Amino acid sequence: MKELREMANGIPDDVLVVLIGDMVTEEALPTYQTLLNTFEGCDDPTGTADSAWARWSRGWTSEENRHGDLLNKYLYLGGKCDMRNIEVTIQHLITSGFNPGAEKDPYRGFVYTSFQERATKISHGNVGKLARQYGDKNLNRICAKIAGDEGRHEKAYQAFVTEILKRDPNGLLEVFGDMMRGSIVMPAELMTDGKDPDLYENFSNVAQRLEVYTALDYAEIIDHLVKQWDLENIDGLDSAGEKEREYLCKLPQRYTKLAERSMNKVRKVTEDEVPTKSFNWIHGRKA
Ligand SMILES: [Fe+2]
Ligand SMILES: [Fe+2]
Repeated sequence: MKELREMANGIPDDVLVVLIGDMVTEEALPTYQTLLNTFEGCDDPTGTADSAWARWSRGWTSEENRHGDLLNKYLYLGGKCDMRNIEVTIQHLITSGFNPGAEKDPYRGFVYTSFQERATKISHGNVGKLARQYGDKNLNRICAKIAGDEGRHEKAYQAFVTEILKRDPNGLLEVFGDMMRGSIVMPAELMTDGKDPDLYENFSNVAQRLEVYTALDYAEIIDHLVKQWDLENIDGLDSAGEKEREYLCKLPQRYTKLAERSMNKVRKVTEDEVPTKSFNWIHGRKA
């Protein structure tokens, strides 16, 4: 305990806040298993179904369950947070639920999870790097392990979409294009501790400022998906499919430009101008 707390003491409050937000996101796992079971034909109708989809979703859930547990235990043992306020946030988030607009459609669902697993891999990976920078080997190892899991999940979901593309390229491009015309909803957007009305916004601003997860990452993920699924070279498209392809292949460049502009603004803010907010998660300290 002494060693764990000594190391954890090196972690500054802004990194801690991002870690707590990521932990709260992981802890809302019941919501994500519910989401998987809304995908028509890929669900687990009995709770112990033996189909590959049902076995996948239970296996995935049981692995994801360890992420929240591990981060929660680390934060609890570290002794620097208001665990009651954090648990209240988790309870509220699970109660509120979340709707990423999958519309029961496995095509939409697997595009969403392909995106989101990569986003969590990036986020945990970057917190891990910060932890190493601040000398906390435990937290570095924890985040690296979790990021490794997310990386494998990302590969699985992207492989599902690759198979869909082989069978129904027009159908997949139609939903992918449609989803990209909106924006990808973050799973913890409805988080609240019942006190701070801007909790999610404040948390994601800190994540952006520390470059744990930024608009540039959003653009990079879209770029990765377009390349991973080789949209440039896909065969068998009708004229609507061609249109979607054209739209989707131009997206990464468009988003990268927008993201660079917004990141330049974030970076321009000098140290003493950084807008800090008070977080109940850390007993009202500012980050
Ligand atoms: Fe996870
Ligand atoms: Fe994952």
